[in-house]
Amino acid sequence: MNYNEYYAKSIVNPGEFWKEEATAIEWYNKPEITLSEDDNGYPLWYKDGELNLCYLALDKHIEDGHGDQVAFIYDSPVTQTIRKYTFSEAKTEVAKLAGGMQSLGMKKGDTAIIYMPMIPQAAFAMLACARIGVIHSVVFGGFAPHELAIRIDDCKPRMIITASSGIEVDKLITYKPLVDEAIELASHRPKKVIVFNRKLGARIPFKKYDVDYDAVVYGSRETPCIPLNATHPLYILYTSGTTGKPKGVVRDTGGYAVALKFSMQKIYNIKEGAVFWAASDVGWVVGHSFIVYGPLINRNSTVIFEGKPIKTPDASTFWRIIEKHKVNAMFTAPTAIRAIRKEDPNGDFIKQYDLSSLKTQFLAGERCDLATLAWYNQHIPIPAIDHWWQTESGWPMIANMLGVETLPIKPGSVGKAVCGYDIKIFDEEGNEAQANQQGYVVVKLPLPPGTLLDLWKDNSRFNSGYLEQYPGYYFSGDGGYKDDDDYIYITGRVDDVINVAGHRLSTAEMEEVVASHQSIAECAVIGINDALRGQIPLALVVTKLNDGIEHFQLEYEITHVIRQQIGAVASLRNVVIVNRLPKTRSGKILRKLMRSIADGEEFQIPSTIDDETIIDEIKAVLIKYEIGTFNKNNTLNK
Ligand code: COA
Ligand code: AMP
Repeated sequence: MNYNEYYAKSIVNPGEFWKEEATAIEWYNKPEITLSEDDNGYPLWYKDGELNLCYLALDKHIEDGHGDQVAFIYDSPVTQTIRKYTFSEAKTEVAKLAGGMQSLGMKKGDTAIIYMPMIPQAAFAMLACARIGVIHSVVFGGFAPHELAIRIDDCKPRMIITASSGIEVDKLITYKPLVDEAIELASHRPKKVIVFNRKLGARIPFKKYDVDYDAVVYGSRETPCIPLNATHPLYILYTSGTTGKPKGVVRDTGGYAVALKFSMQKIYNIKEGAVFWAASDVGWVVGHSFIVYGPLINRNSTVIFEGKPIKTPDASTFWRIIEKHKVNAMFTAPTAIRAIRKEDPNGDFIKQYDLSSLKTQFLAGERCDLATLAWYNQHIPIPAIDHWWQTESGWPMIANMLGVETLPIKPGSVGKAVCGYDIKIFDEEGNEAQANQQGYVVVKLPLPPGTLLDLWKDNSRFNSGYLEQYPGYYFSGDGGYKDDDDYIYITGRVDDVINVAGHRLSTAEMEEVVASHQSIAECAVIGINDALRGQIPLALVVTKLNDGIEHFQLEYEITHVIRQQIGAVASLRNVVIVNRLPKTRSGKILRKLMRSIADGEEFQIPSTIDDETIIDEIKAVLIKYEIGTFNKNNTLNK
């Protein structure tokens, strides 16, 4: 069946389509009901099915005789370690950890936060939770204690699993004190904190709630997988929204398992037994779906990479790993390729490695500029496939479904709608846009299996954030258009979410932090184009009358408070003082206008602006500080 036929089948009769796909995984109880609705009329998949994702990821392969196949390849240039775990070894450790967690009082339906660097124990912790029905919430290690505390108070974990430390290039990041600080800041108190001691010399302050990871594993018996209902939440993953408060995306178990198996085979076209590498972090959705659950369910060896594309030790790291572990397909964010290209423009490192195992390069997480794509293909002539999805979907929504039919690649496009996603481009009024006309990217309900079930304990935000804009459709928050051949192009977010080096962050949240500084009367944080990171935040601030604070002092203090409250990963480095912000006559700050000025894009002066002369004022400040398009070094992208 070709792509068009297969896709049409999934849209015309989703129930039948996903009933068939569900047979690709093993269930304790096969679902009789494929598609139904919850009390609010929202689609539910496989509601009477029973399964366990840890079983599908580990135990099943051992039962099928693949216990000696490598499940995890841990490659850590920052600690100069390579360690492999077979499916049998991984299962033993996970089953003991799960047994230990049960002895510590954890049971089905409890929540646990995992705050760890990129080490196999992070994946073991996720799988141990899945084994016993504990709902995990992995928090990206780059977030500061304040962010961790917000998540602790929202999902109220009974347990936190962490490590003594992580290494960021050459800096030791002491995770345990950060966890202690977050617990101090939060109102909710977890009962236990399991600490994996990496023995890298970090201080591990002892608290009464601490338990040693090794002691838990070695002192426990293996516990079996618990059959779980398909709609049992596997995890909560917080992601940035348009307010200061992150959104806890809830993922189900059954739909997700089917969707991931489907993705590995029909989108990524990865055979069982192959080596798959997603160079991301377990703290992001890519890590959940394509470092941990997807490849393992598909019996692939998955690479856990603790390093960066550059600086660990140089821009050859990706190529070394591909050669050494014979990686068959890899997934990364365009930022990583841009970083490599900047360090190694002629691809000299690439020539030193045998990359013949690598058949496909997948890119996602942010817009991929044409220059980066062209550079990649010039040096590595394999298909570089851009594709689009979100934390909310959990798996690709628009792609080139290589396991069905390889469609011609159109540079700049993220491909065509994936089976199950009836993607439309809507104008403001909810009418379908013409070909090549920009609009909002929406998806007709029902969303396919594996997509978000709800927002954790916040169904009203779920409805208002995704379902109320266009009744009957999921609102993605992205803008885009379709061309005459139904290829889709993503033009960027239409809200306050920005993408910094593939990390999704909220400018509204940054604004709240900046506004809390005692010298600030008013501020706006906007995302502007950056040659390396795709986007970076820029704070435009108006100081209080007669405050007299120097620019460099204010910039230092604001940068510091953002690192402290949100985390270094926010990469807010530019703060400019302006006399006033552009506003409409009704007082609304014109952020889009400032973005266009900074990015050097053509713009129309909004008819609602209160005073046009401010445009030149803003431009003058950006020129003075050489920001955005006025920064001569910001050219890699062009
Ligand atoms: N724990 C603690 N701190 C972290 C962190 C983590 N897991 N991840 C990032 N940080 C810190 C970094 O140490 C850095 O701190 P600094 O300002 O004190 O140096 C800051 O956050 C910014 O990090 P990053 O954006 O990673 O910048 P970098 O200069 O270290 O590296 C790139 C630049 C482009 C190489 C890097 O951003 C990169 O590899 N990007 C690709 C990201 C990616 O794959 N995303 C996938 C999402 S699908
Ligand atoms: P996240 O939820 O962190 O995965 O971020 C999802 C957002 O990243 C999307 O809403 C898009 O704005 C952006 N994004 C992801 N993939 C792409 C892509 N291939 N091209 C352009 N933007 C992308």
